[in-house]
Amino acid sequence: MKVVITGGSGMLGQWVVRHFVEQGYEVSNADVKRPEEQVCPTVITDLTQLGEVYGVLAGADAVVHLAAIPVAYSHPNEVTFHNNTMSTYNVLEAAAGLGIRKAVIASSESSYGLVFAKERFSPQYVPVDEAHPQLPEDSYGLSKVVNEQTADMIHRRTGMQVVSFRLGNVIAPDAYERFPEFIHDPRQRDRILWSYIDARDAATACRLAIEADGLGSVALNLAADDTSMAVTSRELMTAQYPEVTDIRTPLDGFQSLLSSEKAKRLLNWQPAHHWRTYVEQ
Ligand SMILES: NC(=O)c1ccc[n+]([C@@H]2O[C@H](COP(=O)([O-])OP(=O)(O)OC[C@H]3O[C@@H](n4cnc5c(N)ncnc54)[C@H](O)[C@@H]3O)[C@@H](O)[C@H]2O)c1
Repeated sequence: MKVVITGGSGMLGQWVVRHFVEQGYEVSNADVKRPEEQVCPTVITDLTQLGEVYGVLAGADAVVHLAAIPVAYSHPNEVTFHNNTMSTYNVLEAAAGLGIRKAVIASSESSYGLVFAKERFSPQYVPVDEAHPQLPEDSYGLSKVVNEQTADMIHRRTGMQVVSFRLGNVIAPDAYERFPEFIHDPRQRDRILWSYIDARDAATACRLAIEADGLGSVALNLAADDTSMAVTSRELMTAQYPEVTDIRTPLDGFQSLLSSEKAKRLLNWQPAHHWRTYVEQ
């Protein structure tokens, strides 16, 4: 089975490429830049150009679309919005035109809006699941909301299965060494509800989403089971979001405040990597 992975030269993409190659897939990377390590062929592609996207997806059975400007305010707002929405539109439009039946796209917890809000606001409840309102104030978060809508549209028109992963903060294995700098301070990472997801677990979820059937167009949170902190989840909430009273699980340990229960249920996915294994406390 041939899979095109977009953004395969990026931080998350490198791990997703590696995982699909290890699992025996024929993999091709579509990115504007070359990866540091060449694990599969890279086709230099600007995904905002529909013709280029048709060219790079021709012959593929599935596409995992990770390419994006991955943060708000690193570029002028409209550049981020244009790049992220048009590349996603083109990937799904070309995939539909080529008869590809399965796609994964990278959405983000940033679509909930807390992360880049000018005026800090609180989640309406925790753990945040996929039913929580998406309230971005920035063009990055908005681009992810639009991309999920694009996925729904393409599914309605063609029946293509599209899984949109609302990823928590993605952690490559070498990033665990920075954890001791923040794990005791609830003020750090509060805007992302202290979430994280190991890049290798995200990669597994991408593959399971491509291998699954009958999911339609669905958005799924993806986070590790625990927070990235050495402070309990209840203490984190009391310290930074004392006004949140709608707490929907017991919060008796370090459990994640971004719920991945739906991804676990639909994909039979289970995060395998937790920072406590890699960091001496
Ligand atoms: N890193 C995180 O914590 C995080 C959290 C939530 C969601 N995400 C999402 O996951 C995905 C991967 O993020 P990342 O952290 O690996 O980012 P990254 O910047 O490391 O990688 C993104 C890649 O996309 C490529 N790219 C961007 N625009 C392109 C275009 N128009 N055409 C072709 N290639 C293009 C870049 O060259 C880069 O290699 C993104 O969609 C991001 O929004 C990341």
